[in-house]
Amino acid sequence: MPVNTPFEKEKGFQFSRQHFNRLRSLAHEYSGIHVTDDKYEMYYARLAKRLRKLNLPNFTEYLQRVENDPIEFKEFINAITTNVTSFDREPYHFEYLKQQIKERNLESLSIWSAGCSSGEEPYSIIINLFNLAKEYQLPFSILGTDLDTDVLSKASNAIYPLKSIETYNKNTKRQFFLKGTGKNDGFCRIKSCYRDLVKYQQLNLIRNWRLNKTFDIIFCRNVMIYFENETKQKIIQKYADHLAPSGLLFLGHSESIGKDNTDFDNVGKTIYRKR
Ligand SMILES: C[S@@+](CC[C@H](N)C(=O)[O-])C[C@H]1O[C@@H](n2cnc3c(N)ncnc32)[C@H](O)[C@@H]1O
Repeated sequence: MPVNTPFEKEKGFQFSRQHFNRLRSLAHEYSGIHVTDDKYEMYYARLAKRLRKLNLPNFTEYLQRVENDPIEFKEFINAITTNVTSFDREPYHFEYLKQQIKERNLESLSIWSAGCSSGEEPYSIIINLFNLAKEYQLPFSILGTDLDTDVLSKASNAIYPLKSIETYNKNTKRQFFLKGTGKNDGFCRIKSCYRDLVKYQQLNLIRNWRLNKTFDIIFCRNVMIYFENETKQKIIQKYADHLAPSGLLFLGHSESIGKDNTDFDNVGKTIYRKR
């Protein structure tokens, strides 16, 4: 890892190995996110923006600020989370659910999108399943949670670039989105009747949480890849506790629940059914 190289000076702030280690350890302690050495440049790029915004001269002062000011600590966490997401990501999960609605005698669709980022995941669930749920008269609700408060406000606002929904056909766009005009040209917004189906809440998955309800389905895709195995296993255990009998857990494309888990059966690509 580079330490005080000329390249760093060119970029503006001196970012030493000690700065990086302290910051990544604070992030890990709070969020469970394990930050590898190769994320040094990424940390610099994301956090240098905070220094500029706060008008701070160096990372030593920034660290003091993060350690002593809860507001900046929250901004720090928001800055270091990776929020990559998109509409209809991993679409085979939605196809599987459509099939389940048709084949199983479901009574409701109570869904939790854990690590929902800026909302594309919960809204994709609605776009894919709403009409079918209506046809089968299934009560439909979604809880969206994330650690990062910035993405949660984006999710509640539900405004997205038109480019991000270009793969949807005309009818889908017309049913679920409003097209922006004037200063909102180039953007679209999820219609309020669909926005209202999702309740958003901040929730740190590695803390001591308990929700006073059970879900038929939990999506936790591309979130636990950043966690160590022990943390991941504890969370999966809690998902089992929060799922109704035969409830479904969807993980991201490169994730699995681990070979020793006895709470779930693997029923499809990164799809698990509670025993
Ligand atoms: C890569 S995004 C995945 C978004 C979406 N699930 C998808 O697959 O498109 C990962 C999300 O997990 C959230 N996250 C990371 N650590 C978390 C934690 N400890 N508790 C809750 N959310 C967390 C991040 O803020 C980020 O928005």
